[in-house]
Amino acid sequence: MTSLISTYVKFLFIATLFGVAYGTSAASLYTPTSGPCPANFSLYRLTSPNQALSPDEASYVSSRNSAILPSAWASYLANVPGAPLPGYVTAVHPALGVAVSGGGWRAAIFGAGALNALDGRNASAAAAGTGGLLQAATYLAGLSGGAWLVTSLVQADFPTIQELVYGVGQFGGWLPQYSLALPSGDLFVDVAYLAGLFADVQGKYGAGFPVTAADIWARILARHFLNGTSGENFFDTTVPHGAGLTLSGVAQTDTFKAFAEPFPIVIADSRSDAGNQSNVNVAGGASIPLTNPIYEFNPYEMGSYDPMLAAFAPAKYLGTRNTSVCVTGFDQLGFVQATSSNIFSSYNTTNLTSLLDALVSTVGPSGVEPGIELDAAVYPNPFYGLAPGTYIDSNQTYLSLVDGGFDTESIPLQPLLVKARGVEVILAIDATADVDGFAAGSPLIVSQNRTKFFPSSYSFPPVPNSVDDFISENLTTHPTFFGCNSSAPTPLIIYLPNGAPPPGQPALTNTSSNQIQYSASEVQAMLDQTFEIATAAGVDNEWPACLACAVADRARERLGAVRGGVCASCMARYCWS
Ligand SMILES: *[C@@H]1O[C@H](CO)[C@@H](O)[C@H](O)[C@H]1NC(C)=O
Ligand SMILES: *[C@@H]1O[C@H](CO)[C@@H](O)[C@H](O)[C@H]1NC(C)=O
Ligand SMILES: *[C@@H]1O[C@H](CO)[C@@H](O)[C@H](O)[C@H]1NC(C)=O
Ligand SMILES: *[C@@H]1O[C@H](CO)[C@@H](O)[C@H](O)[C@H]1NC(C)=O
Ligand SMILES: *[C@@H]1O[C@H](CO)[C@@H](O)[C@H](O)[C@H]1NC(C)=O
Ligand SMILES: *[C@@H]1O[C@H](CO)[C@@H](O)[C@H](O)[C@H]1NC(C)=O
Ligand SMILES: *[C@@H]1O[C@H](CO)[C@@H](O)[C@H](O)[C@H]1NC(C)=O
Ligand SMILES: *[C@@H]1O[C@H](CO)[C@@H](O)[C@H](O)[C@H]1NC(C)=O
Ligand SMILES: *[C@@H]1O[C@H](CO)[C@@H](O)[C@H](O)[C@H]1NC(C)=O
Ligand SMILES: *[C@@H]1O[C@H](CO)[C@@H](O)[C@H](O)[C@H]1NC(C)=O
Ligand SMILES: *[C@@H]1O[C@H](CO)[C@@H](O)[C@H](O)[C@H]1NC(C)=O
Ligand SMILES: *[C@@H]1O[C@H](CO)[C@@H](O)[C@H](O)[C@H]1NC(C)=O
Repeated sequence: MTSLISTYVKFLFIATLFGVAYGTSAASLYTPTSGPCPANFSLYRLTSPNQALSPDEASYVSSRNSAILPSAWASYLANVPGAPLPGYVTAVHPALGVAVSGGGWRAAIFGAGALNALDGRNASAAAAGTGGLLQAATYLAGLSGGAWLVTSLVQADFPTIQELVYGVGQFGGWLPQYSLALPSGDLFVDVAYLAGLFADVQGKYGAGFPVTAADIWARILARHFLNGTSGENFFDTTVPHGAGLTLSGVAQTDTFKAFAEPFPIVIADSRSDAGNQSNVNVAGGASIPLTNPIYEFNPYEMGSYDPMLAAFAPAKYLGTRNTSVCVTGFDQLGFVQATSSNIFSSYNTTNLTSLLDALVSTVGPSGVEPGIELDAAVYPNPFYGLAPGTYIDSNQTYLSLVDGGFDTESIPLQPLLVKARGVEVILAIDATADVDGFAAGSPLIVSQNRTKFFPSSYSFPPVPNSVDDFISENLTTHPTFFGCNSSAPTPLIIYLPNGAPPPGQPALTNTSSNQIQYSASEVQAMLDQTFEIATAAGVDNEWPACLACAVADRARERLGAVRGGVCASCMARYCWS
């Protein structure tokens, strides 16, 4: 993303000379509103002692469990070809969580290709024997580029992946041909575009909220990952481009209301002066200690199940600081996308200085409140005063949130390890750039390390200790199951790495995280190659059956059955030992 930063720095100075018009439709829709709080309003709820879920989430999952999953699981199994599956596979539906890693556009595209291979609505996926599993999942978590995928998908009402990428209804598609830096290539158009981004955030600033680089980023991402932008209106600064679409608003989409999609979650890391720097994975290039809380966002709530916080605030009222004046509209979905992918944090002291100067001079003569970190996604802290001495941000008026991968745990596994969620099996889709833009297990290693800090809260199966081990054991070139010998509540993890192209094919899916523009044909080629990776086309005809065996393995344990039929050989073949 270095090119992105340096491009901004060159052009923002010119953009700010334009002066920016306050009062565009996007600016007013992006502005949070204040009003009296509802009766009995609480800033947050505590999840302790047993990581209790919110009543809304529990109700969603329960409705999905009874109304959707039994038939979704049966439809999926009907697609699985070949050898008959043992009876325990068909007997009960498992609790599956899918997690999509970060890694910029590469991760969004690889994740999309993998979800497409699991989508029963794609006839090729159904024919390959993997389609339908997406419909049978309970949770779908995303981080950074993976969060772009998850949030754009649910706000567009869960279309197929081809529709998501190319557009459907009010959603104009991902529009990857427009660079995340200078999208037009024409100086005057681009300067007006950048000036428009600054204009969009003026209303929020005027309403008394800190505005940072993450808000500008939010307005950039909104043009790609929210309803309201198309190739025709991309440069039209008079339309809202997704401003006003909120995280809590996802709960009002038709598919969500019908419980017909997995419950979506995205995560971000917190940066805090009080973090324990001994616990930074320096070797992995991290900046955030593993012991800092990880915050999750879902359509109902934002907060953390990590034991040092164990509290959640209602998503709809993010931005609220007390129980008398309630803020709505702070939970802009573009801002949540920008929070989870806030890569600007790492540039704070070096190349971002000019961007931050431009921001300060643009948002107004009074500057910003002291202590606001202009490179962070800044949230009024709803948990202020909670758990002093335990919760590192207890005395912070504002939370400073950054990319969910900045602790190097770049697959969003943490929310799926919450025991109250009862996730039995996790499909971990990994497009991290470990070696040559390919994944080699680093996020699993880091997750294993992090869970060791919170042994009573989370449980994680054994995985290799180093990327070198992943490579030498050939775990990067095919899917692997971890935790086959463990039992619930430790989940079984199905690791699907973007680790190598299919045999005999050129490498298409290991593009650089810094690539901020793609042609439609490049994206399609990546999607198609990912489809082959995820279906093991031409590599293992039994893979679809093996995948079903792994997904059902904890349910088998629940039933007290022994692995049998094709599942016995599948588990022997794909389980890590
Ligand atoms: C800052 O910019 C310089 C020169 O443009 C570049 O070499 C360096 O990698 C950048 N640093 C970061 C952290 O992006
Ligand atoms: C508020 O709380 C009180 C006491 O718990 C309860 O009696 C009342 O019904 C609540 N009001 C609303 C609107 O929920
Ligand atoms: C976004 O557009 C899709 C497709 O037209 C629509 O079904 C969905 O309801 C819209 N989402 C929101 C949040 O308005
Ligand atoms: C910081 O973490 C290290 C290593 O986990 C631990 O030994 C130390 O006690 C921690 N420091 C504080 C102040 O919690
Ligand atoms: C509550 O917060 C608002 C800002 O959101 C502030 O203006 C107001 O003074 C606060 N009220 C109390 C009672 O603290
Ligand atoms: C980031 O930059 C801002 C503004 O220059 C500064 O106040 C803040 O301390 C910096 N944060 C870090 C973590 O370096
Ligand atoms: C805030 O709390 C942290 C420890 O949780 C402490 O290190 C820091 O000094 C406190 N800051 C203030 C301003 O009280
Ligand atoms: C992708 O992989 C190929 C083959 O290993 C390698 O030559 C190429 O440099 C990689 N691309 C990136 C961006 O790392
Ligand atoms: C994981 O923890 C081990 C043991 O504390 C440490 O040696 C290793 O560097 C850690 N690795 C990562 C990626 O955090
Ligand atoms: C990994 O693959 C290579 C090449 O196919 C093979 O020589 C080697 O034995 C494999 N290693 C393991 C541990 O399976
Ligand atoms: C199904 O997926 C394949 C592989 O990416 C793609 O070529 C095809 O267009 C998809 N079909 C539909 C109807 O989305
Ligand atoms: C799992 O159990 C099998 C059979 O007891 C053993 O061969 C294998 O090494 C074990 N794997 C792990 C990761 O402990």
